[in-house]
Amino acid sequence: MNFEQVIGNRRSTRFFDPDRPVEREKIQKILEAMRLSSCAMNAHWLRAVVVYRDELDDELFERLKVPVTGVLMELAPVHIYCFADPTIVPKDKGNRVKELIDVHACNPSHGWTYKFVEEHAWPAVLKPLSESPTYPAMMAWDDGGAAMQGLLMAINQGLGACYSVMVEDVAKEAFGVPDEWLPHYVMNIGYSLEDPGQRPRPPFDSLYYERHVDTPFERDEKVVKELEEAGMLQDPEPKPGRKEEVRRLCQQLGLVE
Ligand SMILES: Cc1cc2nc3c(=O)[nH]c(=O)nc-3n(C[C@H](O)[C@H](O)[C@H](O)COP(=O)(O)O)c2cc1C
Repeated sequence: MNFEQVIGNRRSTRFFDPDRPVEREKIQKILEAMRLSSCAMNAHWLRAVVVYRDELDDELFERLKVPVTGVLMELAPVHIYCFADPTIVPKDKGNRVKELIDVHACNPSHGWTYKFVEEHAWPAVLKPLSESPTYPAMMAWDDGGAAMQGLLMAINQGLGACYSVMVEDVAKEAFGVPDEWLPHYVMNIGYSLEDPGQRPRPPFDSLYYERHVDTPFERDEKVVKELEEAGMLQDPEPKPGRKEEVRRLCQQLGLVE
């Protein structure tokens, strides 16, 4: 798969093969992809706990599910619980930025020195930021990027994946997660049994602008065609036969049609 196909082939899989396990090395590659994401201050807030469905006892598994996640989690053999650790910046006091200076990623040419971090970046920017009400939103933005890299790595390895909401208190208690970590979502992974079209999206020009929000970024049809040929822009849902595919999968898996 080329890069465009990885993006284009991704769907939120909801019909997994419940009996086909996920190889541990594929799980590791998903986590490796998350770790390489870009992150403000090089902080890397994302924490993930890999949970194997078949190791959960029935009572706990029931408590980890909600109506929009139940079937999904029963079918997916692996659930990766994602959290943010907000303590990293207050503990670290700018040291992770200094690491970037040490390896010459951030250089004096761009204003980066130990003195700048100690006298300005930490006390005037990072510390107040880590105490501000916008701090969780900032972590969520960065962790979302990491989570999406992991998602694309799942697709790149032939897996299906779907994020889902988390029952925070149950998950934290069951998996020994520190109280101060903030919940994100759960990445459910497994082998997909379905082959749907791309899901509906808002029109391109209702989302993106050029120079000013008065001016939608106009789509060049030549580029659209190029991305179609590369496999990124694909036929939208519903694909012909999708209804029948869903019916067949429900019968196969013993689900309500
Ligand atoms: C952070 C996040 C949380 C989600 N939570 C759920 C969920 O709880 N249950 C579910 O069925 N789908 C969930 N989804 C899947 C979205 O509904 C899905 O992205 C949407 O249907 C668009 O389709 P696509 O991902 O196949 O392109 C979630 C997706 C994301 C990114």
